[in-house]
Amino acid sequence: MHKNQRTLLVANWKMNLTVSQASLLVHRLQERTRIHRTIEIVLAPSMLALQPISLQIDRRKFRLAAQNAYHKDEGAFTGEVSFSMLRDLVHYTMVGHSERRIHFNEDLPMVRDKVQAAVRNGIVPILCVGETKEERKEDFTKRVLHDQVTTALSNLTAREVAEMVIAYEPVWAIGAGDPAKPNQIQEAIDYIRYQVAHLYGDKVAHEVRMLYGASVEPEYVGGILSLAGVDGLLVGGASLNPYKFADIIEATHRLQVSLGDES
Ligand code: PGA
Repeated sequence: MHKNQRTLLVANWKMNLTVSQASLLVHRLQERTRIHRTIEIVLAPSMLALQPISLQIDRRKFRLAAQNAYHKDEGAFTGEVSFSMLRDLVHYTMVGHSERRIHFNEDLPMVRDKVQAAVRNGIVPILCVGETKEERKEDFTKRVLHDQVTTALSNLTAREVAEMVIAYEPVWAIGAGDPAKPNQIQEAIDYIRYQVAHLYGDKVAHEVRMLYGASVEPEYVGGILSLAGVDGLLVGGASLNPYKFADIIEATHRLQVSLGDES
């Protein structure tokens, strides 16, 4: 964890929950979550639930993220929602999640354009990067991370990069029940920061917030957040369970207390 920075916990609900189920989950989470000055909690519900949930959340406890949007601001793109339509609704947006890259053929230039469109509309991108099982087996992990990071950042200024978030999500560990090993996470996080430093300098590389995501459960929180340079977590499956997600928040708080970072 970075000292003097809030730990970022993002709940990626993916394509789950009707609007009323999402609203019930917010209600349950709100009951179980205290306001922590040292933790920033971000919910990423479906596009449809964003508007009603924005009216429901206690803004001292939660912020909102979109899971995706389209990179053009308006026009003849039937079925799409643009970042400009989301600008007053969400603080963050995920971009380039592996499920979008795999199931919806989002390639490197499209992810780059989406990152740029988010920034243009005042929304902080949470860029998701990570290698597949085959890529890791072939020893291509670094090449994949390099290509994903360098293309996605290529149209941004140093300041814009410093303010964004990059999530390392090894595709092979998503939904697997077993997160990547601490040394694998550390190696990837260090490598991504090294790439950012190469492009934008050490200060930006130090400032950009980095998350780990894939099979995060309450029992893994302390181990992962203790790693140098891991500033938060992107949580999928476990974030749909209010008990588990509240436990993840509490485990984060306990770690901060034990490190003396909590104030
Ligand atoms: P998971 O998903 O926590 O269910 O593995 C993480 C993600 O895809 O963001």
